[in-house]
Amino acid sequence: MGTPLPPSKTLDWISKVSLDPTLIGQDALVWRKRAEKDNIELDPSLGGLGRGIQKINLKVQLPIPLLATSEMAEMATQSKVAYQRFHHLFETIDSDSLKNITLPACGAGLDALELYQYFESKKISFHISDLDPTTAWICEENFKRTFSNSTSTQFKVADAFDTSHLKNHDRGYAFLDPARRKDGERLTDRYLPDLNKCIEFLETFKHAQIKLSPGEDIEQLIQSYPKWTWTIIQMASEIKEISGTYGGEAPPIQLLHLNHTGELLEKYSGSPIGPKFSPECPLEVGDTVITPEPSLKQSKLLTKWREEFELETTAFDHTFKGKNELSSPPLSKSYQLIQSFPIKLNPIKKALRQHKGPVELRSMGVKPDLKLQQFLKPYFKRKQEDGPKFTLLLVKSEEQNRALLLKDI
Ligand SMILES: C[S@@+](CC[C@H](N)C(=O)[O-])C[C@H]1O[C@@H](n2cnc3c(N)ncnc32)[C@H](O)[C@@H]1O
Repeated sequence: MGTPLPPSKTLDWISKVSLDPTLIGQDALVWRKRAEKDNIELDPSLGGLGRGIQKINLKVQLPIPLLATSEMAEMATQSKVAYQRFHHLFETIDSDSLKNITLPACGAGLDALELYQYFESKKISFHISDLDPTTAWICEENFKRTFSNSTSTQFKVADAFDTSHLKNHDRGYAFLDPARRKDGERLTDRYLPDLNKCIEFLETFKHAQIKLSPGEDIEQLIQSYPKWTWTIIQMASEIKEISGTYGGEAPPIQLLHLNHTGELLEKYSGSPIGPKFSPECPLEVGDTVITPEPSLKQSKLLTKWREEFELETTAFDHTFKGKNELSSPPLSKSYQLIQSFPIKLNPIKKALRQHKGPVELRSMGVKPDLKLQQFLKPYFKRKQEDGPKFTLLLVKSEEQNRALLLKDI
């Protein structure tokens, strides 16, 4: 690939770039590549690239380390999440007739590598590109490191929306991950394309997917882009992404819940139903208390889910009463109510004194104060062998926020 490099600089300058551990990002990389071309030896363990390499290799487990700047590593998709996103689509469509895959805005390439691996044995051409030359070069390098024989792959420095190199028959599937982040913040620089533009571009393909940040408003997405299915992917207890799928047959919303190693635990899907009035049910000691996982809370499927599993609403936000014999419905946790009290330290202390096992603190929209957190710290560290685990759930209500002491079911 003809990634343009900056002109040669003096040896002094290049060794400074290489040896200065505070220099991270694109500059360090471009100059390293320049040095390589000029046959100047640099010590690869030094210099700013190190941090990015460490970070990206936490997101993917491969025998050979991948390259990335810190910024690219932060933006790269965790490979287990990418795997589930792609599998979920390709097991529902006929991918045997797929001849071309387009991956513009490839970044360091974790999504691209995962997708390539999925189709490795099939004859599919991959068109991979990024607007930023160093990023495109890194992605190509990461491919070379992972697949020694990825001949059906073309790399380009190109604007995602410039598809002059694509013919109509090339538009089988495209994947786009345009969101840019740095130090936990979203960036709004020249590399951040507008969502409408992305969607319009992707709809020129037969099938397409887009990765969006976990904070996107699902309701707005459904309203603005009704031809798409929106999937919330939660890994352990964290929402990792919302991805849009075009050209499939799935209902408008899907939820995928993965465990911390990336295995699929549960799926749930449906069409949104607005909240309906339902009478509140009192919660009594011994009752089954059910709380939804974060992805279910964020989705517009809560009413459908509650009706389907015949759960009654309580006076507390996002806290339902289940039938006693019921095991956990999908995407939720079930508990038995032991005791309920106002969120005050003394009654909580008194109640916990009677238990020897570990205590987990969860909150449904109520922030625990520092004193309570300090008090509970030793309880978090207790071992399961010493007694059954309990959960202290802080719940919000119009009348009075409460702490529910619960036993896991
Ligand atoms: C979030 S990163 C992609 C990360 C990637 N999915 C991964 O797993 O490593 C977004 C990338 O989009 C690129 N980008 C943004 N706007 C673009 C455009 N108009 N054309 C091509 N690439 C673009 C940025 O340079 C950046 O590398």
